[in-house]
Amino acid sequence: MRQISQHGEWSSRLAFILAATGSAVGLGNIWKFPYIAGENGGGAFVLIYLLCILIIGIPIMMAEIMLGRRGRQSPINSMRTLATEAKASRYWSWLGWLGVIAGFLILSYYSVIAGWAMAYVVRVASGVFEGATADGVSHIFATFVADPEKLLAWHSLFMIVTMLVVARGVKGLERTVKFLMPALLAILILLVGYAMERGAFEEGVSFLFKADFTKMTSEGVLTAMGHAFFTLSLGMGAIMVYGSYLPSKVSIGSTTMLIGLADTMVALLAGLAIFPIVFANSMEPASGPGLIFQTLPIAFGHMAYGSIFGTLFFILLVFAAWSSSISLIEPAVAWLVENKKMSRMRSCIWAGLVTWGVGIGTVLSFNLTADVTFFGKTFFDILDYLTANIMLPLGGVCIAVFAGWVMSEEDSVKELSLKRQWLYKTWLFLVKFISPLAVVIVFLKSIDVI
Ligand code: TRP
Repeated sequence: MRQISQHGEWSSRLAFILAATGSAVGLGNIWKFPYIAGENGGGAFVLIYLLCILIIGIPIMMAEIMLGRRGRQSPINSMRTLATEAKASRYWSWLGWLGVIAGFLILSYYSVIAGWAMAYVVRVASGVFEGATADGVSHIFATFVADPEKLLAWHSLFMIVTMLVVARGVKGLERTVKFLMPALLAILILLVGYAMERGAFEEGVSFLFKADFTKMTSEGVLTAMGHAFFTLSLGMGAIMVYGSYLPSKVSIGSTTMLIGLADTMVALLAGLAIFPIVFANSMEPASGPGLIFQTLPIAFGHMAYGSIFGTLFFILLVFAAWSSSISLIEPAVAWLVENKKMSRMRSCIWAGLVTWGVGIGTVLSFNLTADVTFFGKTFFDILDYLTANIMLPLGGVCIAVFAGWVMSEEDSVKELSLKRQWLYKTWLFLVKFISPLAVVIVFLKSIDVI
């Protein structure tokens, strides 16, 4: 079964690493990680998140890439093919469906937040933040999100741009990501430098890395685990699709390690840039989804050439969001092309329209319908909870179980072709027992069963 995907192949190992890192590094690292770490008390949360990356995220990422490369189609069809090959139930293809739906739902709100980042490119460039105080910056943010028309316009623009790229095929992405990642890293390091000099750096570091487990709730643990999936783009077939375009000779193990490392580094740097600013300006670490939009403009407002660096930063953030959003919709588009025999263009229009429509719910949840809550959660909160905390871990467990229990060891040894036997044994042990068990325990704990 050494076939090549009908959608083509990556030109090299580097191309895959870039694209997968482009998918992994996005709003999750720079926007979401700091604000959920802030809401969940910092250190202990960060530690649990790192642990989840290591023992759940990395092994499942290897499994997901492996299944994609062996299946060579959209996740739905890949799972069906692999299940048939392993003489298992056809219902495994439902896993692909779960992923397509999760991708839609995530992209619907992801695009709204990416729209915020786009709006901030213009705001920072205009110089409104020069010399701004914490209160001033917060006020600008509050006024912005209170305006549904503006949010809708930016959300629409982001969706259009995303679908245009997807329509041309994901592999055009390689070149963009190649300069994007190093540039983003450079600006983040610059921001950390600012935080060291002008922020409450020690306080920020101790908030991020000093673990105080009394602050952790079981809900917080679930959020940390869910975020490990979210930030690595796991559990919904995005990495599986990317894996399906991976040439057979590339090593999955070392590639995964590189992606995981880059992703984690970006998140930690973002935290190190943001929290010192939070404490130096007596702001609230738990201020929610607006956190980066309320903190970083302060830094840009006070550093030399701040407007230029700030503009560049938000442009890079938009690009990072863009290279991630593409992977959220690619499974759906690949499936429409394979099964509905639609052209790539038509598939993009349909998939994009549906996602855009659902996104309107998120746009409104920050203003007109902010008070409409269900168990204390707005529409945006519900989507985020449902996808990151439930659907992705669930999808991830299924991937782990399939790779560890259903697929034959003979096949997985061959497909992973790890250099050392003990590495393979460790991976197998993790996907067979540890990852599924960990996810199930965290699930049960969060609904108070144990
Ligand atoms: N990982 C991306 C981020 O951190 C978001 C993302 C892209 C994603 N593709 C995904 C999340 C697939 C879950 C599943 O911003």
